Amino acid sequence: MKVFLDTAEIDEIKKYSDVIDGVTTNPTLLRIAIEKRKGIMLKDYIAEICNVAGKGRPVSLEVASVDVEKMVREAQFLYENFNGIAGNVVVKVPVSTGSFGESIEGLRAIKEVSKKGIPVNATLIMTPSQALLAAKAGASYVSPFVGRVDDYIRKNLGMKFSKEDYYDYQAFQDYKKESAKRSEKLEEFLKSYDAEGNSGVISGVDLVRKIKKVFENFSFDTKIIAASIRHVRQVFEVMEIGSHIATVPAYVLEEMIRHPKTDEGVKVFYEDSEKANYRELFES
Ligand code: E4P
Repeated sequence: MKVFLDTAEIDEIKKYSDVIDGVTTNPTLLRIAIEKRKGIMLKDYIAEICNVAGKGRPVSLEVASVDVEKMVREAQFLYENFNGIAGNVVVKVPVSTGSFGESIEGLRAIKEVSKKGIPVNATLIMTPSQALLAAKAGASYVSPFVGRVDDYIRKNLGMKFSKEDYYDYQAFQDYKKESAKRSEKLEEFLKSYDAEGNSGVISGVDLVRKIKKVFENFSFDTKIIAASIRHVRQVFEVMEIGSHIATVPAYVLEEMIRHPKTDEGVKVFYEDSEKANYRELFES
């Protein structure tokens, strides 16, 4: 499985450049990053990201609009302006633009942009059917939003959580079984959740599992990027499922690298090397 860094922070890309295979950004991440670099032009900043990520490491850059013509124009703009730097630009297009009117616009844009030979990352994927349609439209990547699906479910279940908490999807099953916990509100949610086409998706990780199966069923080449990852356990799970890629924030990557027992072992070995004059061996 490839590991992308989900960030617009240039220092983070530099720090982890030896272990990451790509970068995903979004307008929110860019807004936060650019606010720290007062005075820098967005265009220059994005160019720097592409350059630092370097050749062979795809950088996803998102369109800003919600209608086909504009999205296609923006995709071309991003590709023409930034792909020349390191040949690594992928354009992120939302799979559906329903909240702004016509839901079909996203898929139309994915099709148009892909036809122009620009690699597309279909973003904000919340259901297996969206992933299937994006793949059929020619997307090179689909990004199921693991954490946001979990948030949607647990919020509606009335669970208290913070964004970084691991969501144990077993809880969803338990809630369904335990009739005592089934309030009217929950019943309503379960009904509308199924009606929204989520039927059977019990967590963000489960969404990745289902998309993987669908892509295998129909031999799609489209790569799955497990996105909106907030906990290292989600990474372990999507690794087991066989997601092609996981895009993770820096704190999750750090959790992938470290373990308290590794830290403890390194400390003990370091101190014993000192006591045994072991390091002198390498100086002779
Ligand atoms: C993916 O490409 C997005 O940039 C990102 O993973 C969204 O994560 P969030 O839901 O934690 O904001």
